[in-house]
Amino acid sequence: MPRLSAAIRHRIGFKLNGKPVSVEAEPRLLATDALRHGLGATGTHVGCEHGVCGACTILIDGAPARACLTLAVQLEGREVTTVEGLAPAPDRLSVLQAAFRRHHALQCGFCTAGILISLEAFLREQPKPSEQELREVVGGHLCRCTGYTPIIAAALEAAALLRRQPQVLAAESIDV
Ligand code: FES
Ligand code: FES
Repeated sequence: MPRLSAAIRHRIGFKLNGKPVSVEAEPRLLATDALRHGLGATGTHVGCEHGVCGACTILIDGAPARACLTLAVQLEGREVTTVEGLAPAPDRLSVLQAAFRRHHALQCGFCTAGILISLEAFLREQPKPSEQELREVVGGHLCRCTGYTPIIAAALEAAALLRRQPQVLAAESIDV
């Protein structure tokens, strides 16, 4: 790994939601700040800033990661997905997002981006999840509003829909 000077900013390039982007960052800059302030991707929320609440969860090369525990320079050359990358078009929701909407699985929405990202990744790995498995995934996120029950119901419904329509998995959507 190259040594970076702490005294200067470095230009970092990576793919954000499928598009090449670049941003200038000091070595100590967090990925959350690079995404939100450097690139305007404010869908990634910042809660605790120490890896507990899950609000900042993003996908790095398809794996969920806490952006508040990731340095911006660690994104160099990676594929990053944020909540802005889940919907297939501005007027359409992903299968999981639409299920959240139907089940009222969000209230203030502060936690929602991170939960959607974690569930999206999990449903790709486990298309037939048990309720307990989903509880464990969502257990990595703090939500003060919903009581979690509608989130689990939405995830179960989304999983069932995706199993029935495997051709729409992840990249496609259903009408909202
Ligand atoms: S802001 Fe990153 S886990 Fe809370
Ligand atoms: S919807 Fe408000 S914190 Fe989860």
